Amino acid sequence: MKKLLLLYLCLYVAWADDLEYDDYDTVSRSPQHNYIQWTTAAGEGGAAREAGGCLHASEELGVLCPTGCELKTMLLKQERSVKQSVNELKPQVDDLSRSSNNVYNYVNSISNSLRERQRIVNDNNRVVGQYTDRVEEQHAYIKETVDTVFPSSIRVLQGVLDKIRLKIQKLEKAIQSQREECKVPCKTKCPIPVVSGKECEDIYRRGGKDSQMYLIQPDAFYAPYKVFCDQTTQNGGWLLIQNRLDGSVDFGRRWDDYRRGFGNIAFDSGKGHCQTPGEYWLGNDRISHLTKMGPTEVLIEMQDWTGAKVHAQYNAFTIQSESSNYVMAVDGYSGNAGNCFLEGSLELFGVNRTMTIHNGMMFSTYDRDNDNWIPGDPSKQCSREDGGGWWYNRCHSANPNGRYYIGGAYTRQMAKHGTDDGIVWMNWKGSWYSLKAISMKIRPFFASR
Ligand SMILES: *[C@@H]1O[C@H](CO)[C@@H](O)[C@H](O)[C@H]1NC(C)=O
Repeated sequence: MKKLLLLYLCLYVAWADDLEYDDYDTVSRSPQHNYIQWTTAAGEGGAAREAGGCLHASEELGVLCPTGCELKTMLLKQERSVKQSVNELKPQVDDLSRSSNNVYNYVNSISNSLRERQRIVNDNNRVVGQYTDRVEEQHAYIKETVDTVFPSSIRVLQGVLDKIRLKIQKLEKAIQSQREECKVPCKTKCPIPVVSGKECEDIYRRGGKDSQMYLIQPDAFYAPYKVFCDQTTQNGGWLLIQNRLDGSVDFGRRWDDYRRGFGNIAFDSGKGHCQTPGEYWLGNDRISHLTKMGPTEVLIEMQDWTGAKVHAQYNAFTIQSESSNYVMAVDGYSGNAGNCFLEGSLELFGVNRTMTIHNGMMFSTYDRDNDNWIPGDPSKQCSREDGGGWWYNRCHSANPNGRYYIGGAYTRQMAKHGTDDGIVWMNWKGSWYSLKAISMKIRPFFASR
C-alpha cells in the first residue's frame, strides 16, 4: 500500500511538473482563439504516418511525432476544456440556487399571508377577497417557476454534464486505442539516401542534388543524424535548422527540448522519399556544433498568408555552446525582410529599438531565463510570454519560434499573455501578424560563392 501511494506521488509530481508552463497563465485564453497544435497535421495524417509519425487513433488528435508522443499535450489541452465546462457550470448552479431561494421566500410570504387572512377573515370578508387574489397570484408564480424555470435549468445542467461525459468517453476510447497502436513501435518509412556527408553542402558536392531528408555526420565523434537539405535555393547546400509551416508541432518547450531538438524532419508525400520537410528545431547542441565547424551563413525565409515571400540572410552566423547559453552572433545582412537580428525593430526608437536586437543574445526558454528583461525576476521572462525558445533580448523584433496563428492577423486578446507571441518578423509585418511559414537554413560560407 505504501509503495502504491509512493508511486501515485511520483506520478503526480511528474504530471504537476509538466503543467508548470501553464501555471504561469495570467490571462485566460479566449475560447475562440486560433492557436493550434494539431488541427492541420490531422488532415495530412496519411502522409505523416508514412514518414514515421504514428497516426493517433482519435482523428483530431492528429499525428504522433517520431521524436515522441504529443498525446500528453493533447490530453492536457482537453483537460483544460473540461475545466472550462465545469467553470461554465458554476454560474448556472448559482442561478439555480438563487431561484430556489426566491421560491422559498415566496412560500414564506404565502404562509404569512395565509396567517394574516386567518386573522382578518373574522373581521372583513371584502378584504379576504383581496388577499386571496394576492395569494393566488403568488401561487401562479411558484407554479410557473417550478414548472418551467427549474426543468429548463436542470436540462441545461444535464446537457453540460452529458457533454463532459462524452468528452471523457472519447478520451478513454482514444487512450485505449492509443495503447493498442503503441504496442508496435513506429517505424519510419523514410528511406535514407545513399549519399551522406558532413552537412548539406558536402552532400551536394557528393551528388545529393535533391532536396530531401539525408543522414549527416558532421564529425566522426558524433553519431549521424537526420536533417532536411535544401539543395535548390541559391545553388543548394542548405541545412534546415528550424521550420514552421502548419502549426503541427508545439514550440513552447523546455531548455532540454531545445538543446536536443524536436519535431518532424521530413515526410514522404507519395514519391517514395522524404522530400517534404516537417516542423522542427534541429537542436541547439547540433546547431552550435555545425556553426563552429567553420564560417557559416544563415538564410531565413518567410511567407505571409497571401503567399508573399521575403528573406533575410546573414553571411556570418555562430552559436556558442551550452556553457555560454548558446550566444548568437550574426553579421553581414542582405535580403528584403528587414534586418531584425542586428538593427532591431525599425518601428521603435532609441533604447526601445536596441532592446529588440537579437545579435549577441543568449538563448532563453520558459524554464531557463537568459534574456535582458530584468534578469532574476521570474515574472519578467520573454520566453514565457512570447511562446517559444529564442535569443530573446527585451524582448524581440523576430519571434520565429512563437505560437502558430492561422490567418496572420491576431490580437492582444488572442495572445496567451497579451503580448505579441505569434511568429513575428516585425520589420516585415509588425508585431500583430503571425507568419504562415518561416524557416532557418545554414551552410558553410565561402566569400567566393
Ligand atoms: C519607449 O517606449 C515607451 C513606452 O512605449 C515610451 O514611453 C517612450 O517614449 C519610448 N522611447 C523612445 C525613445 O521612443
